[in-house]
Amino acid sequence: MKYQGNKNRIVGDILPIILQNKKEGQWYVEPFCGSCSVIQRVSGNRIASDKNKYLIAMWKSLTEGKQMPMEISKEFYCDVRDCFHGKNNKYTDDIIGWVGYMGSFNGRFFDGGYSGHNVIGKNGKSRNYIAENIANTMKQVEDLKGVVWQSGDYFSINIPDNSIIYCDPPYRNTKEYQFSRGFDFESFYSWCHEMADNGHTILISEYDMPDSFECIWSKKLTNAMNPTITKNAVEKLFIPKSSKDTILQKEPEIDFKENELTSYFNDMMNRMDNLNKENTEDEF
Ligand SMILES: C[S@@+](CC[C@H](N)C(=O)[O-])C[C@H]1O[C@@H](n2cnc3c(N)ncnc32)[C@H](O)[C@@H]1O
Repeated sequence: MKYQGNKNRIVGDILPIILQNKKEGQWYVEPFCGSCSVIQRVSGNRIASDKNKYLIAMWKSLTEGKQMPMEISKEFYCDVRDCFHGKNNKYTDDIIGWVGYMGSFNGRFFDGGYSGHNVIGKNGKSRNYIAENIANTMKQVEDLKGVVWQSGDYFSINIPDNSIIYCDPPYRNTKEYQFSRGFDFESFYSWCHEMADNGHTILISEYDMPDSFECIWSKKLTNAMNPTITKNAVEKLFIPKSSKDTILQKEPEIDFKENELTSYFNDMMNRMDNLNKENTEDEF
């Protein structure tokens, strides 16, 4: 699904780090799930949430198998947009989410204009932006079945004990979008520390975080639309410094090597035993 700030380009890099110590049955929680580009690749117990209640209603209905309109005419789009702006009361939240995301240009929820079904580009070729977006979104649905959906501010959601929480909040000092306006970054940093102190494993995507967080991964991304643009973003993954030891602990490699050595040693001892036996037998 087209979505501002989705993690498609880095999910393959960050997910193995986020899940490296995940235990069986442990919950994975995403309080800023957006287009679900990350959570769709996680298995097991999962909670997805976002402040945009229309988006969550849309995902919930899709995963429950509800049929959504495949055709979104400009007239229908404008009527649903009026409903979103409180000018009529005709549509449910899931339809508002669906039409807002499938029908708006670049997935910018009633913020980028109507994208259209039959748009003739400069090269004279026709593009069906809405059908393309719908097809991409529908591909995600199967992988999202079983997700527990919540919506609201990140600090108000229910999080099971000892969860893995991956946060992809609005980025500081970047363009603000509809549901990100006025985001209180200082409160968010405190909440992250509180979550870590409460026993959760918490990891955050951002460009920069205060000193009380440690960057554990980074990657320079070129601008996909225009690789010659010099301003390249560096995507980073942070954890609270206080939780560094717990989060970075891997299955100790030394144990593995010790096990290997032990079995090698036992094997050698058995062989020597056998040889000794053979020799002894030969002597008699
Ligand atoms: C960078 S986007 C997340 C993108 C997502 N990782 C993806 O792959 O599509 C940030 C998300 O945070 C949500 N958001 C903004 N403020 C929020 C808040 N206070 N609580 C929860 N979600 C919020 C926005 O609606 C948006 O979906």
